[in-house]
Amino acid sequence: MNTSKTKNKYQIAVVPGDGIGKEVMEATLFVLDELDIDFDYVYGEAGDECGQKNGNPLPEETLDIIRNADACLFGAAGETAADVIVKIRQEMKMYANLRPVKTYPNTNALFDDVDFMIVRENTEGLYIADQEELTEDGAIAKRIITRKAEERIIDYAFNYAKENNKSKVTGVHKANVLKKSDGLFKDVFYEVAERYPEIETEDFYVDATAMYLITQPQSFEVIVTTNLFGDILSDEGAGLVGGLGVIPSANIGEDGALFEPVHGSAPDIAGEGKANPIAMMLSAIMMLRYIGENEEADKFDAAILKVLNDGKILTRDLGGSSSTMEVAEAIKNNL
Ligand code: NAI
Ligand code: MG
Repeated sequence: MNTSKTKNKYQIAVVPGDGIGKEVMEATLFVLDELDIDFDYVYGEAGDECGQKNGNPLPEETLDIIRNADACLFGAAGETAADVIVKIRQEMKMYANLRPVKTYPNTNALFDDVDFMIVRENTEGLYIADQEELTEDGAIAKRIITRKAEERIIDYAFNYAKENNKSKVTGVHKANVLKKSDGLFKDVFYEVAERYPEIETEDFYVDATAMYLITQPQSFEVIVTTNLFGDILSDEGAGLVGGLGVIPSANIGEDGALFEPVHGSAPDIAGEGKANPIAMMLSAIMMLRYIGENEEADKFDAAILKVLNDGKILTRDLGGSSSTMEVAEAIKNNL
């Protein structure tokens, strides 16, 4: 965040992308405009349409816009998603992937009282594509665990817990089998924990955690884990609270932060006003908290909760028949 800017005025990079990315972005900005914050939006192009037009799905100009902003709102890309969103995460060194698992009413959630955050390391682990190699017998993939990157993500998780009034952090690993790499993760987890004596700690093996997420999801507050485990557990978490239309995410880095719904460009419904804007809106709420606008975030969140509780104005994915903008209007009216 650029602290030299005057208070409550933020420069936000807006990258709507393709398909429903554009629709859910429009709906989200429509509500953000009603908040008591001064946003300066700078639009960037990226995705399939941008690639067809400019010959590059992620122009350097868009990267600069994201770099220079306090935060970025990203809609969705289509077929070029890997060249766009994965590249932005790498370029901006976005090391923390945040996936909240929180129940909202009138969604397809399996539980009505789940509320925890998954903090996933996003730069190393098993997902180092250029470290895979073919061999005579098949292939080998390396799993890289460094003290520096794991300490950074674990500290991020504890700090997140502290700042968001969470009382417990759970470290997830497989140190019984991956003795050296996850042994290191576990050691660093407890080293960092000492800096946060007020926060309770526990650690579980990843396989047991996969089960506990189903049998006792209410017991979790903040989970911190390595790249692959975090990828899998966060999709399991999405399944617990139901429906791509309501699942947000954040990517936090040294050079910037990007907030995006987990869903893609949904070509099957694009251009029809059927997309649920709530995943994008919850991503914007994560952005508000990131820039320190907690009160406005609470207000926005309460308005979404009210509309979901009423259950009258919902998009088709939640069993209603309202349009993207009708949902946005209802939420705006409840602010
Ligand atoms: P998708 O998330 O776009 O759609 C999956 C299903 O969920 C579709 O039936 C869609 O209609 C529905 N859906 C998704 N978001 C919705 C919303 N907000 N409201 C109502 N229904 C919603 O995933 P899919 O179909 O696998 O991929 C479509 C395109 O999106 C592909 O080109 C893919 O590469 C891209 N994609 C991009 C991502 C990104 O930009 N981060 C992430 C995932 C996919
Ligand atoms: Mg995934």
